[in-house]
Parts: sequence; C-alpha cells; structure tokens
Amino acid sequence: MPQALEHAAPVEKDFLPLNGTDYVEFYVGNARQAAYFYRAAFGFRLAAYRGPETGTRECASYVLVQDKIRLVFTTPLTPEHPVADHIRLHGDGVRDIALWVDDAEAAWRATTARGARSVREPETLRDGHGEARVASIGIYGDTIHTFVERGKYNGAFLPGFEAAPAEDPVARPAGLLHIDHMVGNVGWGEMNRWVDFYRDVMGFRMFKHFDDKDISTEYSALMSKVMSNGNERVKFPINEPAEGKRKSQIEEYLQFYRGPGVQHIAMATGNIIETVGTLQRQGVQFLRVPNTYYNDLLARIGPIDEPIEALRELGILVDRDDEGYMLQIFTRPVEDRPTLFYEVIQRKGSRSFGKGNFKALFEAIEREQELRGNL
Ligand code: FE2
Repeated sequence: MPQALEHAAPVEKDFLPLNGTDYVEFYVGNARQAAYFYRAAFGFRLAAYRGPETGTRECASYVLVQDKIRLVFTTPLTPEHPVADHIRLHGDGVRDIALWVDDAEAAWRATTARGARSVREPETLRDGHGEARVASIGIYGDTIHTFVERGKYNGAFLPGFEAAPAEDPVARPAGLLHIDHMVGNVGWGEMNRWVDFYRDVMGFRMFKHFDDKDISTEYSALMSKVMSNGNERVKFPINEPAEGKRKSQIEEYLQFYRGPGVQHIAMATGNIIETVGTLQRQGVQFLRVPNTYYNDLLARIGPIDEPIEALRELGILVDRDDEGYMLQIFTRPVEDRPTLFYEVIQRKGSRSFGKGNFKALFEAIEREQELRGNL
C-alpha cells in the first residue's frame, strides 16, 4: 500500500474557514480617551470614526490600527443605550472578537445549526464604498463573535465609518504586528464546556501545545486549554479557576468583570526588545518578575539571540520547547478593575504559550493581587 494512503486520515472539510481576526471591539465609558491611550501608549493610529458627526446619534466608535491589529472602541451617548448596561456591569472590556470570513451568512448558519446562540442575523451594510455582510453569535459571558465578510467593501473600516486623516499626530508606533492569541476566563468547571463549544460549534481543535495540567503556585491555581482553528490563525486559550489556598487571579477577574470574559490579548512583534522599550517609555506598565529569574536563565533555556541584560532590564521572559523558543511579557491590567491585560510576544520557532514562565508570572500577579487586597 502506498505510504501516503496508509497514513491518510479522513480529511474533514473545515465548515468554518477563517481568514483571521478582523477586529476586537471594546465597550468603554469614554471612547475618545481610551483611543488616546491606545494611540499614545500602545502605538495605534486612528483609522476610522463613527459618531454624531457622521450621522450616528446614539454611540461613537474609534477604529485604531497597528499593522494587522484592529481595535474598535465604542461608547454610548445615552444611558438607555444597551452598551451602557454592558459597561455598568463589566466596566471597560472586550465585547466582540470579530472573525474575518469569506461568507458571513454561511459562517452564521454553520455555527447556529451546531448550537450557537444567534446575536445578530446576517445583515448587509452599505455605503458609498460598497457593502459588507455581518452576523454574530454569542460565546462566554456577554462576549460575541461577529463574522465579517468584506470582499465587496473598500472603505476605511465598515459602512457608516469615515476614514481618519492619513497622519495621526498622536500615534507612536511600537512595532506590534498581529494578534497571536486571545484568552478567555470562564467560571468554575466551565472550561471543558467552552472547549467543546469551540470544537463542536466552531470546528476548532485542541492545539498541539496545550497545557492541560493544573498550573499552580503556593496560593492559587488555574486550568487552561488552547483551542485553534484549522489554519491556526485564530487561537483561543480558555482558563478556569482551580482550587488553591487563596483566591486565584481567574477568580479575581471573574469577580470584578462579573462573569466570564476576555482576560488577555497577545500581540506579536518581530523585535520584542525594541517594542517593549518603546511601550515602557510611552507609559505602558508591565509585570515584573524577580531579578533572580535571570540568574539561571541561560542554563534553563539554552543559547538565545538576545542579550540577557536587555531582557532583565525590560523584564522579558523566555521559554523553550522542542521547536524553538519564545519571548513574552505581560502588562498590568489596563483598567482600574483588575480585568483585561495584554501580552507582547515574539516567537522564534516555538508555538507554545510560555508554560515554563507561568509560575514566576503568577507569583508576580499575586503580589499585585495582594496589594489590591484580593488575594
Ligand atoms: Fe498568552
């Protein structure tokens, strides 16, 4: 028997082909100021806007772009607007992880037929730049996925938005390139339910490098599994709290976000030393691990291209697996509620998520929880 046939597994057609993440939309109390923070500190540029000046009376949205990353900040203009309810409950946070597809209606049909909750039926949006199709389904908590089909649209973002001037005087680019992964926190015992959702409803599979063990420190613990779509452009680790002596960071999140939601967004860079240096100068605050982390780093990790001193100075972490290594660092939460934070990541062969750093990191997070009186 020819070898190829012998090893051929039945190939299932991907019923939800994804081109990647289209945008991430945040509901915030003051979109104008949030946008300023992400431009001046994180280096995004204003690409498009929608609000009263463009004919939208009830809310305002700012679209920010850095290379392939697109963030949208939306705020309500009246207390009756549904976005206001979201903010009252959750504070500022991620509402929508939008996914770029070729056929929004097919994506909506395939997922709702498999049990997804419809949030918005397929709809065609039009303006002078063409038309786009959108449809949305609910995921954990009040979070949603919008499927965006933009093949016939050539405007700045979506119909109804106006392009911003090409030069953004506030933006200070930091070399962030694309979203590497986005992590969801779900409640006690709910991780497998959402793993099943991504497998059965979205056609994802467990990522090869998932970390399925308890991740624990002296005090707190969590469990995590990583789900990926077929072409691996979209990866969603899912965390749930696990039993520990004291309250875990996941429980703290769930308490302050009032339920499940997006915990962190990992953004990739091609030069983490330059990117993190720029972000720190621009006011982004990162978690620090103890200096001792670096003492035996080379012995643990083996040779790397980057000078250890630069990594130590910036607080960048390193982890290695059988395919290569990766460098990563985490910000402090970017809201007053200890909820969403960011990761900056540079991959050098490794496709993992930094399991070797979890202990050092969680201890750093716990020191901050302690300061907040939430440990
Ligand atoms: Fe991460």
